[in-house]
Amino acid sequence: MVKWASVFHRKKFEKSVSSPDKSICCNVVLRNNQLIYQVTKNNKLVINESRLGISICGEQLIANKIMLVRYQEKRHRESISMPWGEDEVINNDYNELTVFLSEYQPPYRIMTIRFRIFNNAVAFRYEIPPQPKFSQVSIKDEVTEFNIDPNSIAWKIPAYQPDRYEYNYEKVNLSSITGSVHTPLTIKTPNGFYLSLHEAALYNYGSATIKLNNERHLITDITPLSDGTKAHVLLPFQTPWRLVMIAESAIELTTNRTMYALNDPPKMDFSWVKTLKFIGIWWAMYVGEWTWAKGERHGATTEHAKEYIDAAVRLGISGVLIEGWNEGWEGDWLQNGVNNQFTQPTPDFDLEAVASYARKRGVEIVGHHETVGFIDNYEKQLESAYNYYAANGINYIKTGYAGSMMLINGRKEFHHSQLGVNHYQKTVELAAKKHICLDIHEPIKGTGIERTWPNLLSREGARGQEYEGGAIAPSHACILPYTRLLSGGMDYTSGIFDLENNVKRIATTLARQLAYFVVIYSGMQMAADRPFIYEERFKQEFEFIKNVPTNFSKSIPLAGEIGEYYVVARKDREKDNWYIGGITDENGRTLHLKFDFLEEGKAYSATIYSDADNAHYRDEPFAITIRNMKISHNDSIDIYLAPGGGFAIELKKIS
Ligand code: NOJ
Ligand code: CA
Repeated sequence: MVKWASVFHRKKFEKSVSSPDKSICCNVVLRNNQLIYQVTKNNKLVINESRLGISICGEQLIANKIMLVRYQEKRHRESISMPWGEDEVINNDYNELTVFLSEYQPPYRIMTIRFRIFNNAVAFRYEIPPQPKFSQVSIKDEVTEFNIDPNSIAWKIPAYQPDRYEYNYEKVNLSSITGSVHTPLTIKTPNGFYLSLHEAALYNYGSATIKLNNERHLITDITPLSDGTKAHVLLPFQTPWRLVMIAESAIELTTNRTMYALNDPPKMDFSWVKTLKFIGIWWAMYVGEWTWAKGERHGATTEHAKEYIDAAVRLGISGVLIEGWNEGWEGDWLQNGVNNQFTQPTPDFDLEAVASYARKRGVEIVGHHETVGFIDNYEKQLESAYNYYAANGINYIKTGYAGSMMLINGRKEFHHSQLGVNHYQKTVELAAKKHICLDIHEPIKGTGIERTWPNLLSREGARGQEYEGGAIAPSHACILPYTRLLSGGMDYTSGIFDLENNVKRIATTLARQLAYFVVIYSGMQMAADRPFIYEERFKQEFEFIKNVPTNFSKSIPLAGEIGEYYVVARKDREKDNWYIGGITDENGRTLHLKFDFLEEGKAYSATIYSDADNAHYRDEPFAITIRNMKISHNDSIDIYLAPGGGFAIELKKIS
């Protein structure tokens, strides 16, 4: 239903729009040449009066000397079905208010701002329609404020840093934020709300980071290009959605799927996309057994690849990742990215033979492109590199951008700048054309474009287990569900079982490594340790990794607090089975688990992998208990999580 207000021109305007369930209200005001919005939930303030606008290079603010031309209201209600993910059905249920603005003096430029108020979020974006003598715009800045109580607490990672998003989160007072920080920026307000500031549908624009202005209001700081502008765009143009997720508890935040609802449906057939679990020629490099570069200890040899393919078959895992297979890794590979040749295997690696062996054994190969951020070098080879894999039946590629900056058109650009965003998009679209699925490491953050491009199965984009060995505290993974994971799945490279290896000591218990397969969702989920570890030492524990799905129909968070613990139950998309994962920080705790989400009147056979009483991430990481019991809807159990520990449960419906 679209309601048109009669055409009028006003320099003053005020209009409220609420969520379908009336809990959230957004008040939009035009006053003194400034467009302002304010958000409440249950009549309590969420965002105080905050300014909106965009400025374009060499010109005045487009949202300056403005009047309202007209506005429009719309009710939208839709159920979206997702081909894979944490939930099969997502609600796209909102009230929309669109305000059409114009300058009231020459050059009379026009702009639209579209607000969507959901039951658990507020989103809005700027749209610049085509208009006379104004077809190309360089965006100088976007003035979007989020005037949130400065006495709030925030969990932040810094922006514009050499390791991109791969930082430990810091819990700070909102008013003490210095510099720019990445989104999702999760905030707990003194009046009891859990918010996360993020964006949706980031295309052809600098990614939004957030900083404090002089008035201690949070504002967007759009990532600049090397020429100092934020983006060069052709009209018509629309910015990404500015998204504020709003919840009354920490765990409620973790099921907020508004980001996907704000993205478009796919424009082509993606029925060929399948989620994947894989092992890989990978962790052996991290613990120093093998190398990426060719030589005596080269990992990616034909022989090793065939061994890993055989191991995958024995372990019941569908894919094998092979890193370090191509020419270009010699010397300091982080500096020499320009040498990478993506159609040239090393002499000891016969890609065709490996691919054909994998096909015969029914195993998917996950190819690998480490660009080190040398985009000029990569884009020259992009088409032929993807063709090479496609011609060999390789349907999955893990890409990597390990440089601190990208080299694009001979200039250093941020990964999260407009040119970086456009590069990643180019790879996703080319991969889609070739029926290839991607797992992007050092990616651009997720903004829900997987809804439109489901072949983008996973990303890294946070500090993952590759940083274990001292640089990850147990609380880190207990922050991720409430922050990074609000932007989509993550390849955390879970399932390292060799916890006490001499090179990279892992700060978790064994049971917790299983929990990660449920807690940290990924459309491409890696069992990251070497296969001999699973086969020789931990056959029984590996059973959980073998069985846990990579595609769920429903996810229900059961308990948690940011940075302390998180427990989530997820239902298999294919079968009536449930999987539960729980993790804790450095404090042990006992949680009371209820199973009232299970189908009533049915019994489930449960296998429970939990920390033993003496388990501790520091000195008893392997102490695990595995037990079986029958569980149904009315049951509940107490479960112990050791310091740095966790648990995993498989619940199989007894038919
Ligand atoms: C960093 C990635 O996160 C890691 O998974 C990969 O092995 C290395 N870069 C090398 O490409
Ligand atoms: Ca990485």
